[in-house]
Amino acid sequence: MEAPGHVAAFDVATAMPEILVGTTSQFADGDRRIVAHDGVEIGVFCWQGRFYAYRNLCLHQGGPACEGLIMHKVEDVLAPDRTFQGQRFSPDEVHFVCPWHGYEYDLRTGECAADRRLRLRSYPVVLRGEEIYVAVT
Ligand code: FES
Repeated sequence: MEAPGHVAAFDVATAMPEILVGTTSQFADGDRRIVAHDGVEIGVFCWQGRFYAYRNLCLHQGGPACEGLIMHKVEDVLAPDRTFQGQRFSPDEVHFVCPWHGYEYDLRTGECAADRRLRLRSYPVVLRGEEIYVAVT
């Protein structure tokens, strides 16, 4: 196997080069890996059996967003009368947090949690047997 980050394949159908990330056995749930290609860093996440890839460049001030803490969304708990009851971790939504100033991104979409109109650039992840590739353009 070639070193992660090198162009290892070329999808004839889409004409996109594919970067080898590693193999599925190298990723436990919640793991991530940063690969670099042509001066661009890409964060590849494994979460609940699926893989997601985003440019490792925060929309705030260019920090390494994909390298930050992974945590469940913190959400308010409200009573039926809308009074505040406390906070809890969301059972469904997971974020990664840019280590520079704390921008949070939805791990499944790359959207900024504070403003869903903002979204990290995403890349298709292709599984070929055990091998994981990111398609880059
Ligand atoms: S650069 Fe990421 S939060 Fe500021």
